[in-house]
Amino acid sequence: MNKPLAILEEVSTGYLSEPVLSKVDLKVYPDDFIGVIGPNGGGKTTLAKVMLGLIPLFSGKVVFPGGRPKTGYLPQVSQIDKSFPITVREVVSSGLKAGNNWFPHLNKNQRKQVDAMLEEAGMSSLSSRPIGELSGGQLQKTLLCRALINHPQLLILDEPNTFVDKNFEEDLYRWLKELNKKMAIILISHDIGTISPIIKTIACVNGTLHYHPSNQISEEILKVYNCPVDIIAHGPVPHRVLKEHGHE
Ligand SMILES: Nc1ncnc2c1ncn2[C@@H]1O[C@H](COP(=O)(O)OP(=O)(O)OP(=O)(O)O)[C@@H](O)[C@H]1O
Ligand SMILES: [Mg+2]
Repeated sequence: MNKPLAILEEVSTGYLSEPVLSKVDLKVYPDDFIGVIGPNGGGKTTLAKVMLGLIPLFSGKVVFPGGRPKTGYLPQVSQIDKSFPITVREVVSSGLKAGNNWFPHLNKNQRKQVDAMLEEAGMSSLSSRPIGELSGGQLQKTLLCRALINHPQLLILDEPNTFVDKNFEEDLYRWLKELNKKMAIILISHDIGTISPIIKTIACVNGTLHYHPSNQISEEILKVYNCPVDIIAHGPVPHRVLKEHGHE
């Protein structure tokens, strides 16, 4: 009965003629929580674009057995123009309409829906603030509200834990754990150490995809896939993280 939401079969893709991903196989089930890790330029964001149908495939196919699932997407912050003059409320509202309409006209019910979403995220007091004046965590929350406003079946988050502090990260993970009771989550992150406790399985993306049906991954395996690792110790338990990535 647990039918996949999406099946990637031997998917190869890239930009112009430059291949980025080759022969990627992946099944995404409704209760999945997949952590996607891998080095800079390995193709993690490109994988998200494949799932969203934003990029043509060179070969292979993406199948949606139950029809295309409603999908919420939190883009990587480096791909967002923070100087764009748009408020928190407008960003969240834009999630209600398909396509890239940043200023949709909302009816009363939809406005209520946006209010409720902002309330849930503890962002009500910031609703008319321009996104350029938010902290990293507040911007991520705004983007998450936008991704969630349509009650997606599949939530794709591209590095939601960049530019945020530890408190925000813990809040975020608690929230995601709750959300995972209702939707599949694909969480792209450069930090296997912090996401490891909340994810259920791991996909290592570096030109292709290696799937690990567990939330533990050994250093040796990461090395084989060319994911540079550091072992760092926070408190009593040493854990692994991917080496510093040069984000912004
Ligand atoms: N719009 C684009 N046009 C041309 N090349 C692109 C485009 N977007 C990404 N690329 C290239 O495709 C490769 C994979 O990029 P992608 O953004 O998927 O990597 P990533 O794993 O998400 O990296 P990061 O950890 O830095 O976010 C890189 O070599 C990148 O330069
Ligand atoms: Mg990326």
